[in-house]
Order: sequence, then C-alpha cells, then structure tokens
Amino acid sequence: MWDNPTDRPFFLEWTTLAHQIVAAVLQPGEVAIDATVGNGHDTLFLAQLVGAEGHVYGFDVQKEALERARQRLKAAALDRRVTLFQKSHDQMAEAIPPTCHGRLGAIMFNLGYLPGGTDRSCITRPETTLPALDAALPLLRPAGVLTVVAYPGHPGGNEEAEAVRKWAETLDPEDFVAVRYAFCNRRRPAPELVVVYKCPSRSA
Ligand SMILES: C[S@@+](CC[C@H](N)C(=O)[O-])C[C@H]1O[C@@H](n2cnc3c(N)ncnc32)[C@H](O)[C@@H]1O
Repeated sequence: MWDNPTDRPFFLEWTTLAHQIVAAVLQPGEVAIDATVGNGHDTLFLAQLVGAEGHVYGFDVQKEALERARQRLKAAALDRRVTLFQKSHDQMAEAIPPTCHGRLGAIMFNLGYLPGGTDRSCITRPETTLPALDAALPLLRPAGVLTVVAYPGHPGGNEEAEAVRKWAETLDPEDFVAVRYAFCNRRRPAPELVVVYKCPSRSA
C-alpha cells in the first residue's frame, strides 16, 4: 500500500503512535525507562523528551543492542542522560534508584528480537515480560504511561502478545486505563500496541 513504511500515517504505525502518546505525558526533567533498548530508537526519543535535567534508564539482555544504542546516543550527544543496563527488564525495580520509584513519567516496551541483530533466537518471552510489566506499574507516577508494542508474527510472538493482552485485561479499572490498538482486517499476524495509563488519583 505504501512503498516506504515511513510514509504511513503515525496512527497506523504503533511505534510512532506510542511516541506520540509518551510525548503527551512525559515532561522535561522527568525519569523514564526503555525496557527493551534494542537499536536505541526509543531510548533516544525518551532522552530527547526528558531534556538535560531528566534521565532515562535502559534495559537489554544483549551487549550488541546496548553497543548500538550507545553509539546512537553518543552521535546525538545525549549519552549522559541515559544509563544502560545489560539486565533483563524484570530486574528494573532493583536496578533503578529507589528515589525514582513512583515518579516515572513513561516506560516503553518494544517486544520481539533485535532488528538486524545476529541472534534472532534472543527474543522477549512472557516468563520475563509479564514480571517486568508487573514491576513497571508501581514505578510510574500518577498520570504516567506505559506502552507495549507486541509482534505476533515470529515464533512465540503470538503467545507473548496474547499474554500481554490478558495481563492488561486484569488491571483494576479504578487504578489504570488500559487500551489496545490492533488492526481488524489484516490477513497476516500484525503488531499490536497496549497502552496503560495510571489514573491520576492513584498513588502507588
Ligand atoms: C524489538 S527490539 C527493541 C527495539 C528498540 N526499542 C529500538 O528502538 O530499536 C527487542 C529487544 O528486546 C531485547 N530483549 C529480549 N529479552 C529481554 C529482556 N528479558 N529484558 C530486556 N530486553 C530484552 C532484545 O535483545 C531486543 O534488543
């Protein structure tokens, strides 16, 4: 339909829509997490939004991903705003300073494998993705936002996307607003975006 995927309108490209949503919430000077650093596109985006007074913590299990992200951040002279951990994202609560807990404006997950990476078998898996999502919610401030882009197209991806969907359905509507963006008429498995917004009155 489009020769170049970047020609697609932002509201049909979940990673771009996730950026728009995060940009509406995350404020300069705040702290954010990129839970799946990969090539560092989301990390860079978050670092731009938090500004010189803010900070971004990034997680990825692959050294290759972190090196690529580090280069991207250095090229933009934003590497000092970011701390990268070669750790699984389910360890995020222990890894970031306790003073940040309950104060994060945004946490982004982009599931699956490292695009262009050498090891396609290194994918996010529900066993760690779901504990990471559970760990993420208490870290958000009231009116903070969490985004998850899931890809059902690769082996294991469908089960993970379904697990994320089910996880979001269990969230108490008194505490969180959970929204899912999904295509209705695609013939092949298509990515989905889950957005969780912490209600402004919720304190923990
Ligand atoms: C789709 S990529 C992320 C793309 C990235 N957001 C970007 O902007 O380029 C998914 C990443 O998740 C990482 N990953 C896999 N399991 C993980 C885990 N348990 N914790 C953190 N990252 C993980 C992979 O190594 C891969 O780099």
